[in-house]
Amino acid sequence: MIIEAEDLHKSFKANKAVGGVSIAIDEGETVGLLGPNGAGKSTTLNLLLGLVSPDSGSVRVFGESIRRLSADTKRAIGFVPQDFAFFPELSGLANVTYWGRLYGLRKRALDTAVRDALEFTGLWERRKDAAKTYSGGMQRRLNISCGIVHNPKILIMDEPTVGVDPQSRNHILDSVRTLSAGGATVVYTSHYMEEIQALCDRVVIMDGGKVVADGALEKVIRDNTNERVVMLETPSPGAARDTVDQLVRNEIVATPQADVEDSTVVLRVAADLDFNDFASRVLALGLTLESISEKRPSLETVFLNLTGKTLRD
Ligand SMILES: Nc1ncnc2c1ncn2[C@@H]1O[C@H](COP(=O)(O)OP(=O)(O)OP(=O)(O)O)[C@@H](O)[C@H]1O
Ligand SMILES: [Mg+2]
Repeated sequence: MIIEAEDLHKSFKANKAVGGVSIAIDEGETVGLLGPNGAGKSTTLNLLLGLVSPDSGSVRVFGESIRRLSADTKRAIGFVPQDFAFFPELSGLANVTYWGRLYGLRKRALDTAVRDALEFTGLWERRKDAAKTYSGGMQRRLNISCGIVHNPKILIMDEPTVGVDPQSRNHILDSVRTLSAGGATVVYTSHYMEEIQALCDRVVIMDGGKVVADGALEKVIRDNTNERVVMLETPSPGAARDTVDQLVRNEIVATPQADVEDSTVVLRVAADLDFNDFASRVLALGLTLESISEKRPSLETVFLNLTGKTLRD
């Protein structure tokens, strides 16, 4: 484990932001941290980074206590904060150079790293312009260049794609994939479920300062889905209604479980349903069906089940 956090608690005055979070991250993992606004995601990341001290609990990075990290370990960590970490009046080049220097890079190594970081996010052409003249998406990308200039082994990103255009978003997602394929350990928070599903092999869901689910993406989805959806395509809306009647009459479903949308019957079934057995019982009725298929449960549904909230506010 390269990051080990145990039973972290952190309150701001009477407000408990983080209430007993434990999380262990292995080298090379890409972990998506999800949660509604105010769930405690940023506070958790700040605790993992040692930027905020916990009221109780501990954090170890590469086996060292976060309170006494060696210079080498500090340099192995990169952070892309939710709020911009660059100076708006300075050029992109000056900003990334500033961060590179802070991480101990000098001379040729610094120049090369700065160029790589700006090329990586597609900003090299605009390096001489003041950061405040960049578009929102370019500013997000500059924020990333500042966090990765020293080629960190652990990269912690807090909402790196919030408010960016689709083109910058794709560029950012590709960058994260490249870093992750290069062996970096990535912890990534986002409000966009599709990003987490596309990037991460593990998901941690937080709500009210606590971890409410943690595991491989597919497993978290499977374990937290209490109903599944089966779709029966029929030739017409009339045939669809007829199909529902038959299913009810043969006691395969109860009426409230079945809906008709155009010529499709949408059935809500128990999570432990044996799909093949169910399909053969339906087919045995001799109905005219064009197809019978199962709708894959999404992270969105799981999130809603666990937190009672949708992610977009
Ligand atoms: N520096 C601070 N001072 C006071 N309260 C804070 C501070 N930082 C966070 N909080 C509070 O702690 C709680 C958790 O905040 P946090 O920023 O960690 O949530 P989040 O999950 O990152 O939310 P978002 O999705 O909006 O970024 C919130 O109620 C917030 O108001
Ligand atoms: Mg946050």
